[in-house]
Amino acid sequence: MQTLIVGGTQGIGAAWAQQLRARGDQVWVAGRTAEGPNAIALDLSQPDSIQAAVTTLLQAAPDVTRVINTAGVLHWDQGQPEKSLRQLHPDAALYSYQVNALGPALLAQALWDRMRRCPGFVFASLSARVGSISDNRLGGWYSYRASKAAQNMMLKNLSLELGRVNPSAIVALLHPGTVDTQLSQPFQSRVPSDQLFTVKRAAAQLDQVLSQFTPKDSGTLRDWAGRDIPF
Ligand SMILES: NC(=O)c1ccc[n+]([C@@H]2O[C@H](COP(=O)([O-])OP(=O)(O)OC[C@H]3O[C@@H](n4cnc5c(N)ncnc54)[C@H](OP(=O)(O)O)[C@@H]3O)[C@@H](O)[C@H]2O)c1
Repeated sequence: MQTLIVGGTQGIGAAWAQQLRARGDQVWVAGRTAEGPNAIALDLSQPDSIQAAVTTLLQAAPDVTRVINTAGVLHWDQGQPEKSLRQLHPDAALYSYQVNALGPALLAQALWDRMRRCPGFVFASLSARVGSISDNRLGGWYSYRASKAAQNMMLKNLSLELGRVNPSAIVALLHPGTVDTQLSQPFQSRVPSDQLFTVKRAAAQLDQVLSQFTPKDSGTLRDWAGRDIPF
C-alpha cells in the first residue's frame, strides 16, 4: 500500500510511518523539515507548497491510496495557547487556522482527482478532543480548539462531497489521546503517567482505529480507543 504521512517528520507521524514501513507499506513523509528518500517538503500554511507537494507525491506514488495528516501546531516561537481571552492574538489565531484547519482542507482539494477515482481511498487527519464544542468544559486554548473544530467541519464536509462521487472512500478524524511529543511537552505535568502515551503506542492505537473505519463511518471523529467523540 502507498501511504503519505503529512507531519511524518517527527512525533506521532514519524512513529506511524516507521510502523507502516516495518509492515511492508511504501510510505512517503511530508513536512517543513522533510528530507531524504521518500520525503516531500510541505508547509501546510502555504497553499502553493501544498499543491507542489501533491504534484510530487502523485509522480512518485501514482497508486497512493491513503493520506494521513498528523501535522498540527499548538505552540511555536510566537504562539502559546491562550489561558484567557485577553491573550487571543490575531496572528496566532490565523496561523493555527492555516495549519490545523485550512491546510488539511487544501491538501484534500489538491488530492481531489485521485480521491474521487480511487476505490477505498482513505483521507485521515489527527484532530483533538479539545476541538469538540460539546465536550468543552474547561475553556482556554481559543485558537487551537477553534482550529481543530474548524478542521472537523472541513473534513465532515469533505466526507459528504467525496461520498457522493466515491462511496467507498473514507474520511477519518482521529484523537490520539495525550502523547509524549514536543507538542504536549509543556502541558504534561498534570497528566497521569498511565494516560501519557508513547508515540509508538499512540501510532499503533491510531492505526488499529483507522483500520476499523468503514465508509459509513466517514466524517466522524474517534479517539484512540475507537470511541466516537461528538462534535
Ligand atoms: N501530542 C498530543 O498529546 C496530541 C493530543 C491531541 C492531538 N494531537 C494532534 O496530533 C497531531 C500530531 O501531534 P504531535 O504531538 O505528533 O506533534 P509534533 O511532535 O509537534 O509533530 C507535529 C508535526 O507537524 C508538522 N508540522 C507542523 N507545522 C507544519 C506546517 N506548517 N506544515 C507541515 N507540517 C507541519 C511537523 O513537521 P515539520 O516540523 O517538519 O513541519 C511535525 O512532523 C497534531 O495535529 C496534534 O494537534 C496531539
